[in-house]
Amino acid sequence: MARGRFITFEGGEGAGKSTQLRRLAERLTQAGVEVVTTREPGGSPGAESIRALLVNGDADRWSGLSEALLMFAARRDHIERTIAPALDRGAWVVCDRFADSTRAYQGAGGGVDPALISALESHVLSVRPDLTLILDLPADAGLARAGARGGGETRFESKGLGFHERLRQAFLDIAAAEPERCVVIDGRDEIAAVGEAVWDDVRTRLLDHG
Ligand code: TMP
Repeated sequence: MARGRFITFEGGEGAGKSTQLRRLAERLTQAGVEVVTTREPGGSPGAESIRALLVNGDADRWSGLSEALLMFAARRDHIERTIAPALDRGAWVVCDRFADSTRAYQGAGGGVDPALISALESHVLSVRPDLTLILDLPADAGLARAGARGGGETRFESKGLGFHERLRQAFLDIAAAEPERCVVIDGRDEIAAVGEAVWDDVRTRLLDHG
C-alpha cells in the first residue's frame, strides 16, 4: 500500500478554508480516494484539549512564544495519533491549517524568532505537506467574513488589523519561498470558482502524477 498524500489549507481568518476543505474531501472521495479530514490546532483528543486553551479568552492570554509551544505540543500529538497512522495505511489527509500557521501567526504576527520555529519544526514534524493551498484575501475582508459568521473562538480574530495584515504577507512569503509545495488561490472569488482552482491544483500536482 502506497503512503497517502498530505494536503493542508492555510490562510487568514474568514478565507473560506473549512468550506473548501469539505468540497475537496467530497471530490477526492468521488475519485475513489480514502480521505481523512482534520484540523489544527486539534485533530486528536489531546490536541483538541490544547485548542480550547488557545482559541478562547483574552487576546493577551498567552505570549507569542507560549502560543508557539502549545501549537507544537498539539501538533506533535496530532501527527502521532491521527496524521501519520492515516498516511501509513494509504489514506489521504486533508488538514485545516498546519505548521505554516505557526510561522504566520506566532512568527510574523506574534514576533517569535523564525529560527526557533524552524528548529521546533525539524524536531516535531515527522510528516510535511505534499501540497499546501493558501487561500488569500485582504485582511479586512477576511475579518468581516469571520465576524459575520459569529460563533466563539474569537481570541485570534480580536488581535487587530495590523496583526492580520502581517500574517497575510507571511503566507504569501512562504508561498514564494516554497513554490514546489505551495499554491496561492484568490479567496475573494465565488465558492464554486475557488473550488475549481483547488481541484485543478490537486489534480495536476497529485492525482495525475500518482
Ligand atoms: P481556525 O479558526 O482556522 O479553526 O484556527 C484557529 C485559530 O488558531 C486561528 O485564529 C489561527 C490560530 N492558529 C495559530 O495561531 N497558530 C497555529 O499554528 C494554528 C494551527 C492556528
